[in-house]
Amino acid sequence: MSIYLDNAATSYPKPEQVYQAVNHALREVGASPGRGGHRRSLEAGRIMFLAREAVARLFSIPDSSRIIFTHNATGALNLALHGTLLAGDHVITTSMEHNSLLRPLHALRREGVEVTVVAAGPDGIVDPEQIRRALRPSTRMLAVGHVSNVCGSIQPIAEIAAICRAAGALFLVDAAQSAGYIDLDVVSTGIDLLAAPGHKGLLGPPGTGLLYVAPAVALRPTVEGGTGTSSTSEEQPLTMPDGFEAGTHNLPGIAGLKAGVEFILERGIAAIRRHEQSLIMEAEQLLRRIPGVTIYGPKDPGLRASVLSFNLAGIDASLLAAQLDHDFDIAVRAGLHCAPQAHRTLGTLPEGTLRISPGWFSTREEIAFFSEAVIQCVSKIRQSM
Ligand code: ALA
Repeated sequence: MSIYLDNAATSYPKPEQVYQAVNHALREVGASPGRGGHRRSLEAGRIMFLAREAVARLFSIPDSSRIIFTHNATGALNLALHGTLLAGDHVITTSMEHNSLLRPLHALRREGVEVTVVAAGPDGIVDPEQIRRALRPSTRMLAVGHVSNVCGSIQPIAEIAAICRAAGALFLVDAAQSAGYIDLDVVSTGIDLLAAPGHKGLLGPPGTGLLYVAPAVALRPTVEGGTGTSSTSEEQPLTMPDGFEAGTHNLPGIAGLKAGVEFILERGIAAIRRHEQSLIMEAEQLLRRIPGVTIYGPKDPGLRASVLSFNLAGIDASLLAAQLDHDFDIAVRAGLHCAPQAHRTLGTLPEGTLRISPGWFSTREEIAFFSEAVIQCVSKIRQSM
């Protein structure tokens, strides 16, 4: 048995339709969307349009042209941050963020943007009141990861959105670990900018991501180039979405993303959440039986997404992950998960944790096999010490 429990890094396997859509785009369509008047280019444009429409339906976005395709969530976050913030702006973020948010913010500090990092509690959840207290007259943006990629904690984004609205600031949500896993109504929640990967919960191929931009947000392009529109102008067009998607699109990736989102729409996000939540609860119960285990993150399963981090006393998480891979062909991720401040918050710096992240295709049998494998690997590691 080969078991994949690293869906927080990228989802695997993909639905069969995704492989077929990528194959079809590469073999049968072959052309670049918006870069020609021939039927292949028109077909490529139609796939792009339908992909945007599917994403819009999933997130209840009324106008799909407000969705910009990027190469991953990191690209979307960089565009959202570098495309809106200016010297003198103040941004509030949290200690649970991934480097994909923290590093662009760090770079923007050098350009005169001020950043406040609000510490989450030991369960990885931020108190919205702490965010409210961090507000300044110059606060331009609240930038928050919906779900921690380290411990799965779900942030209270509706409450944070209300604080943001009252302050007149932009609300940027990093949905890297929630898109496709948790129901998200972008407009009614009050999200101005939503960054999501296409290759995790949305079940598309790597090299895909997206940024939703609310109509009131004045976004500056961060990459200039050909758009297939306004070609006589030397200025980058600001039209949505083409002005922000310069260069040739990843059509096979976006075709696969379309198929992934359609798969989610068919099953229903509630069914996906239920399945993954039950697997996480099962894993937690089984792991708690192992002596010396510490599980991080919220105790209430309603506050945790499909990510679970743990450690075993005296066992190096990376060594255990390697043993699980070597002896049982089980894929998990150990270490810091590119989120050092989240580990500081949880008290797991510098070693990190061992993380599992089941997906739609994971099963209860796999979770049971995994927990038995942990017991055997721990015993083997302890004997060799
Ligand atoms: N951010 C991804 C992870 O958590 C890559 O593994």
